Amino acid sequence: MPTLATKFTGLDFVNPFVLASAPPTESKRKIMKAFESGWGGVVTKTIGLHPVENVAGPRTIFQRASETKPYVSRTKRPDTVSHSSWNWELISDQPLDLWLPDLEEIKSTYPDRMLIGSIMAGTGTEEEMDNWRKLATACVGAGCDALELNLSCPHMDRKDMGAHIANDEDIIRSIMAAVTSVVSVPIWVKLTPATSTVVDGAQAAYDAGASAISLCNTFPSMPLMDPETMKFEVEVDGYVSSGGMGGLAILNQALQRVSDISRALPGKSISGIGGIKGFNEAFNFIAHGAGNLQVCTAAMEEKGSGGVGVKLIQDLKDDLLDYLTRKGFDSIDDFKGIACDRVVEQSQIRRKSEDYNGGFVAEVEEVD
Ligand SMILES: Cc1cc2nc3c(=O)[nH]c(=O)nc-3n(C[C@H](O)[C@H](O)[C@H](O)COP(=O)(O)O)c2cc1C
Repeated sequence: MPTLATKFTGLDFVNPFVLASAPPTESKRKIMKAFESGWGGVVTKTIGLHPVENVAGPRTIFQRASETKPYVSRTKRPDTVSHSSWNWELISDQPLDLWLPDLEEIKSTYPDRMLIGSIMAGTGTEEEMDNWRKLATACVGAGCDALELNLSCPHMDRKDMGAHIANDEDIIRSIMAAVTSVVSVPIWVKLTPATSTVVDGAQAAYDAGASAISLCNTFPSMPLMDPETMKFEVEVDGYVSSGGMGGLAILNQALQRVSDISRALPGKSISGIGGIKGFNEAFNFIAHGAGNLQVCTAAMEEKGSGGVGVKLIQDLKDDLLDYLTRKGFDSIDDFKGIACDRVVEQSQIRRKSEDYNGGFVAEVEEVD
């Protein structure tokens, strides 16, 4: 009989599907509902120590596209399909001391579900390193099974936080040192896809003791302007700032980042995130080497689910089980990474003639 159960970073997951750090995991109520619905784990909305005040307008919009006049817009139109989410929401506005009793209650109510605490502080000073230590100690003390370090939020003003540090290896090492000096649970490091050095960042994190890389956070992006009204589709007083894109539109890009890491650093654990909406997307992340899957936009989009993807998790579990059964697989381990050795350099792909020389001018043999 195939099983949905997986071991990831030493933790036992009843199924590999996890709600990502975002509105679906922003409160005790939502996390409890998520576990009741069947999610194998959650990564909490990122918890920090500084006061958070979000923009005075919508924090997230959902963009859709249609076949006729296929422009992307949040505007409601018939016959559209989901394209992406765009958000400029900051980290949790619930302070740490309110989170801690909630985490304890969640874990004691659902001991078999994995509770991963997402945390974020700054860098560059001993005070900020203390903040990482304090957040880590408190979340683990309240029952978190693992921590996810948010080094990737794309819309922070503070230059010492989130995606601004763009997978800086020294910073990753210093934060990892601070966190691992106080806790011994698995540490997942959530990196930004918005850099050409994602593999170097991942290597630095693994070398410093990270159990997994979580990838991807949202991609830095702009909301669209309506040509008629000449207003951004989301704005406050006519102004907007750069935000983050998630959902189906980032799937292929997220897979490319996961593939880069799993091919460069074989055997390392990756939690795949970006555009998972059903089994097919999840399959692709696993094929590229992910051993765990996180979902945000698709859960938020599910109407009537309170934004936690009640039907989505049922479908994901049913479709994975059906796939394992039809293929004669025991678990996701049987097809994990099957795409890795089929991704090669351009020059290794067969072409119609021998003329292509990897993009370089062919060396001409000197004749005396
Ligand atoms: C409204 C919103 C808020 C988010 N907040 C956080 C956050 O606090 N911490 C974090 O690490 N990622 C955050 N994310 C990113 C998601 O966890 C996830 O990495 C991203 O949305 C890609 O997954 P998806 O394509 O399934 O949406 C947020 C995403 C959205 C849409």
